[in-house]
Amino acid sequence: AEMNRELKERLFQLKKERNAIILAHYYQRDEIQEVADFRGDSFLLAQKAASTDAETIVFCGVHFMGESAKILAPDKTVLIPDERAGCPMADMVNVDGLRKLKAQHPNAKVVTYINSSAEIKAETDICCTSSNAVKVINSVDADEIIWVPDKNLGHYVQQHTDKKLIIWEGYCNTHDMLTVKDVVEMKAKYPNAEFVVHPECRPEVVEMGDFVGSTTAILDHCKNSPAQEFIVGTEDGTGYQLRKDSPDKTFHFATKFLVCPNMKVNNLKKLVKCLETMQPQIYVPPVVADKARLSLERMLQVK
Ligand code: 13P
Ligand code: SF4
Repeated sequence: AEMNRELKERLFQLKKERNAIILAHYYQRDEIQEVADFRGDSFLLAQKAASTDAETIVFCGVHFMGESAKILAPDKTVLIPDERAGCPMADMVNVDGLRKLKAQHPNAKVVTYINSSAEIKAETDICCTSSNAVKVINSVDADEIIWVPDKNLGHYVQQHTDKKLIIWEGYCNTHDMLTVKDVVEMKAKYPNAEFVVHPECRPEVVEMGDFVGSTTAILDHCKNSPAQEFIVGTEDGTGYQLRKDSPDKTFHFATKFLVCPNMKVNNLKKLVKCLETMQPQIYVPPVVADKARLSLERMLQVK
């Protein structure tokens, strides 16, 4: 506790010196969410990065999120506490494969989940996050959509649009681990709880949801629902905001495995250190960034 107090003091001092803003995804450790200027889902944090006046953005999340911040704010310094914080789903799609698919479907437009590399975004017509995926798809001027990289979210979106999705086979290792059996057991144990679930989970699990939505949608729902007890089908870091919003409600995570190890690579100590050393910085080659920016800016413009 004493060490954390010292670290926090050092952090506030450095934040001022560096004119820095700290953005933290809801899946970060509590000790990071506690000191962030903004907590959010991937959409809100991209918006904050695009609009901040700060000179330095510390992105507490995984690498693709830092990249998106750098692409949207190319003149700022973007730091990440640990650059090994990657996203396995983002690595499941490669440029060659995507180009091949585009050649096979010349009339299709590419909609890419923001959980992807800058190189993939540079090959993309428009990006989306889990909170705006359906809206983005329906805004696209094409009947056929190449969708990368999340097959589970793709399946969910397909049920909410008339367009035809050509779906890549990627998935989130963390959300995809949740099974029907896990949920059946939890529902038997907590019969009065509502099951809230992220669409990165498997289709058969999503189907069991009393509520389906992105991280922010789940947080909003749990805050406003009359229910007092929830089974949560998304990453365990959301517990911080869920409990903060509703201290009198009860939240059971659907399994103890709903922890993204990549998100947890960052910690308070590394956060302070990155502001001290101004390393590691996110770098995106300008030719890639300039192309990728169009796909992100188009997403930000969808109303
Ligand atoms: P959202 O923040 O859009 O809910 O995305 C979930 C996720 O897995 C982020 O890595
Ligand atoms: Fe990637 Fe899943 Fe972790 Fe999000 S929760 S960073 S999608 S592995």
